[in-house]
Amino acid sequence: MKFFVDTADVEEIRALNALGLLDGVTTNPSLIAKSGRDMSEAIKEICDIVDGPVSAEVTATDYDGMMAEAEKLLAIADNVTIKVPLTEAGIQACHALSSKGVSVNVTLCFSVAQAILAAKAGAAYISPFVGRLDDIGQDGMELIQEICEIYDNYDFPTEVLVASIRNPIHVVASARMGAGVATVPPSVLRQMFKHPLTESGLAAFLADWKKTGQSIL
Ligand code: G3P
Repeated sequence: MKFFVDTADVEEIRALNALGLLDGVTTNPSLIAKSGRDMSEAIKEICDIVDGPVSAEVTATDYDGMMAEAEKLLAIADNVTIKVPLTEAGIQACHALSSKGVSVNVTLCFSVAQAILAAKAGAAYISPFVGRLDDIGQDGMELIQEICEIYDNYDFPTEVLVASIRNPIHVVASARMGAGVATVPPSVLRQMFKHPLTESGLAAFLADWKKTGQSIL
């Protein structure tokens, strides 16, 4: 399973990348707004830090506008993935860009039918939003299970990129279902380290070690 981090916070990305855990990054217009950064500058910096794909999302809603924005975003770095919304124009842009060998992430997916359209359009990634479905009382992980099953049925090469992750349980469930990628907020990635027995166990080891009066160095 690949880990992408879902943020445009360059310092967070630098810190998490240093742990050796990042396979890529996803951003969206809300995350760029939250960062307070100029989009092109932030994407360039992120692409310099992380070797893997960095999703940069178009904001035009028409096909021509999406294609023009994609061209500009692709010029930023070789590892830019173009993120398009799951609309008719987005799917058309996905098809056109994918046909030219561009990596496309289709976002704002909330149904299996939508995921089939993205795969048919040659998307490199489909981003179903599990947390936002849970928020309205639907089971987000059930959607992941169904998409994984259908993509397997047809050997679609589109990777299931689980998005809108809210907690480590979403990550573990995604892994059990065989989803290719989880895009994780930095806070959730840090939560994954935590276990009270790890913390108390380490405290006990260090206390016992101190009693020995030894030092490894
Ligand atoms: O980047 C898309 C997705 O991960 C957004 O998540 O938390 O805004 O629902 P969230």
